[in-house]
Amino acid sequence: MMFEGGAKSVFAPLCGKSLDLIWMYNRGHTVVGAEIAEQAVQELFSEKKLDVHVQHVEGVGPLYKSTDGTDGRLQVYVGDLFDLTKYRDLLLSSLKKDGQYYLMIIDYDPAVWPGPPHNITDQRVRQLYGEYCNIEMMQESNLTGISNPDNKASGGNAPPAKPKSAGAALRTSSYLYDRYYKITFK
Ligand SMILES: C[S@@+](CC[C@H](N)C(=O)[O-])C[C@H]1O[C@@H](n2cnc3c(N)ncnc32)[C@H](O)[C@@H]1O
Repeated sequence: MMFEGGAKSVFAPLCGKSLDLIWMYNRGHTVVGAEIAEQAVQELFSEKKLDVHVQHVEGVGPLYKSTDGTDGRLQVYVGDLFDLTKYRDLLLSSLKKDGQYYLMIIDYDPAVWPGPPHNITDQRVRQLYGEYCNIEMMQESNLTGISNPDNKASGGNAPPAKPKSAGAALRTSSYLYDRYYKITFK
């Protein structure tokens, strides 16, 4: 559905060397990815035998850009997306003036889990994007108190197990929210 009505521009954060990137590129879309592991990015281009040009983008890092047909429609930035300010700058520089950015965040007590996924508050979203963008919270799901699957085997009566995973740790948080935002330029 997302690809109806002609060529689109797609941003793919944490893209790795996912085959989806090539799938979209081969159908004429412009695909901009971001990935921390440079080796994955090199392999993405070499395994698909795509000619590539690498340039350095100030404040971000290397940018791998396809040169097939000189259209540069496949681009992957190598950088750390957990730096939220850098991520915002990269994202907003790739977003068209009338583009839409859908953001999903998870908000929990950071004392229970160091991430990933990292805790991001509503206030942090507004601090990052509020100066440049309209921010519409489309949905908020309160997941506080959902049961911990680690305790199920004991009938739920055992003391909370030491969390073995992010999912289990997040369920021990005194608050847990999913929030979905639509972000557009002012
Ligand atoms: C679970 S993989 C998903 C890869 C791809 N989206 C797919 O579906 O095959 C997560 C990817 O995020 C990348 N990654 C992890 N931490 C990152 C960070 N801080 N900044 C950018 N990329 C990161 C990893 O190197 C990995 O390629």
